[in-house]
Amino acid sequence: MDVSGKVVLVTGGGGGIGAGITEAFAEAGAKVAITDINGDWAQAEATRIGRGAIAFQHDVTSPESWAQMKTGVEAAFGPVDVLCNNAGISLPFKPMEDITLDQFDRVMAINVRGVFLGCHLFMGEMKARGSGHIVNTSSVNGQLPHGTFACYSASKFAVSGLSESIGQELAPFGVGVSILYPGLTRSRMSEGQMHDLPDDIKAAIAGKMMEPVWLGRAVVRAVQENQLHIITHPDHLDALKARVDALYAAFGEPAQPDFAGGRIDV
Ligand SMILES: NC(=O)c1ccc[n+]([C@@H]2O[C@H](COP(=O)([O-])OP(=O)(O)OC[C@H]3O[C@@H](n4cnc5c(N)ncnc54)[C@H](O)[C@@H]3O)[C@@H](O)[C@H]2O)c1
Repeated sequence: MDVSGKVVLVTGGGGGIGAGITEAFAEAGAKVAITDINGDWAQAEATRIGRGAIAFQHDVTSPESWAQMKTGVEAAFGPVDVLCNNAGISLPFKPMEDITLDQFDRVMAINVRGVFLGCHLFMGEMKARGSGHIVNTSSVNGQLPHGTFACYSASKFAVSGLSESIGQELAPFGVGVSILYPGLTRSRMSEGQMHDLPDDIKAAIAGKMMEPVWLGRAVVRAVQENQLHIITHPDHLDALKARVDALYAAFGEPAQPDFAGGRIDV
């Protein structure tokens, strides 16, 4: 898709990766709308990015908030061509037994329910128009689980699975889906995550954070070229290979002798 002049909506764009995605689409000539639960942060990024960017206060966990925000974006720009479901939260690095049910529910509500609601609201009209693109922000943890990050990893695996599944549903209608798998990137989330770490480790990690606008530029290219997977941090390749090798190694004889199996498409 040529993104110039297209309408792009980015959730959780009041800083970090969402702001980087918005900035990159604005650079490419798109009309951009930023939403965030913190309306002031969204407005600050719209002002910084300029180029006619607009901002909305919006809670991705609420269907009513989605409907209201959609009406506002359409009134300003017309139908949305590219939806970027980027809003997300993390949890402290802790053994899962120390994570509360409320924390689990909150991370699932924002990271998974929020992505479901966004896709659900826009995919029907994109199908009907025969054009559009959805970009969902997963994480490197959406392919590589991380001990002490179990609930976040689970939420991001859900985003990866949902996205790849609807990619199959939408492709015949000319609608693209991309999954962004960021590694460490500068943002309020990643900087907040370091809060309790010793200063020397903080400094070492800070030096390894990618700047968000580069992820945004990778997202723009993926939409232009209709790529499913957006890998911004290839340094995770060896770990991913080791995980996939372990999975391959578990494939052997079927549990039921002489079982034929085979995939049936429904
Ligand atoms: N920064 C990283 O290293 C990193 C790595 C992998 C994945 N990610 C993912 O990237 C995405 C963006 O994160 P970030 O690192 O830029 O962090 P961030 O905290 O800067 O951005 C997330 C934004 O989402 C907003 N938000 C939170 N709850 C919301 C809600 N209910 N409705 C609407 N907006 C809400 C926050 O206000 C915030 O501005 C997240 O999905 C995150 O999981 C980040």
